[in-house]
Amino acid sequence: MHLNQSETTYLYYAYGRQALVEALRLAGVSAGDGVLIPGLICKDVLSSIHTVGAKPIFYQVDEALAPVSLPRHPSIKAVIAVNYFGFPQDLEIFNDYCNKFSIKLIEDNAHGYLSANIDGVLLGNRAPLGITSIRKTIRIPDGARLHVSDVQLVERMPHQLPLNSKPLGARYLLQTVFSKVERTTRLPLLRWTRAIVRLRRFLSTGEFISGSSALAESEVVVPVGPRDSSIKQIRKLDEESEAKRRIDLYARVSSIISNSKITSVYSRLPENCVPYGYPFFAETDEVKSVQRLVNSLGVEVIKWPDLPEAILLDAPDYYSNLWLVNFL
Ligand SMILES: Cc1ncc(COP(=O)(O)O)c(C=O)c1O
Repeated sequence: MHLNQSETTYLYYAYGRQALVEALRLAGVSAGDGVLIPGLICKDVLSSIHTVGAKPIFYQVDEALAPVSLPRHPSIKAVIAVNYFGFPQDLEIFNDYCNKFSIKLIEDNAHGYLSANIDGVLLGNRAPLGITSIRKTIRIPDGARLHVSDVQLVERMPHQLPLNSKPLGARYLLQTVFSKVERTTRLPLLRWTRAIVRLRRFLSTGEFISGSSALAESEVVVPVGPRDSSIKQIRKLDEESEAKRRIDLYARVSSIISNSKITSVYSRLPENCVPYGYPFFAETDEVKSVQRLVNSLGVEVIKWPDLPEAILLDAPDYYSNLWLVNFL
């Protein structure tokens, strides 16, 4: 399959972390450099930084998930701003910082495929470099992209890596069918399957969740092209109805949980925002009751993120009390 002309500022990868490796390279980050990154992040993102031989330097975010301040260090060659859960991060402070010190901003829009800011600009396309993990919004085995908007960087973009000819696979086809059945009948087939998988994993490894080891941070990330079959699924998506489904779900979850003892991360859904899910802060004991409340919508509550080891010790409570009603 060929990618068309309008897609030449995009490069497609299997995973968002691979797109990030290329973004870091294009930003001129190399061994020994620093990359400014929020402490509220999942371990996988650190693996991209380690892969180019750089070091993460953390900034903290407040309870609105906006940066408290951006520290300066002469080694810093790139800054990562995250659109948490598909909500647009205000880039002003990042742009000021990057202009002042002549460094590149990377917009991490892993969570926000289809989401746009109030002016209708797609998230992931607002900075010189942006990454989006499409596989987090559409049920596909792989699929992520890098967007390059800086004219000089566009000239240095590598070629698209070859697409992989593997089919979607039985597991993904089954998950898609289960998800459709779950959405129409409310029979929680996917949740039951996940529970069985976790139980089997626990019995064989002693861990319910995979990849929660410190090693996830230092894995070497090798960029590869996504499956041809995943790109076909992305093309087939009815974007308007998927965006509407997510926006409607956000309103329904918001109303269902309005009387529970949780705190929503965001007070409202901004215009043009297509949410990854419904993020909220809660103590672990509360979460079961939230899951019960949203069961009727066929959606699952998950914990995010699996925090980096360096952050765990001093992390504010709200980093560890963050949950998401996942709309996938
Ligand atoms: C904020 C953020 N950025 C990047 C990634 C990496 O995306 P992927 O899992 O597709 O490599 C993740 C993964 O969870 C993420 O949460």
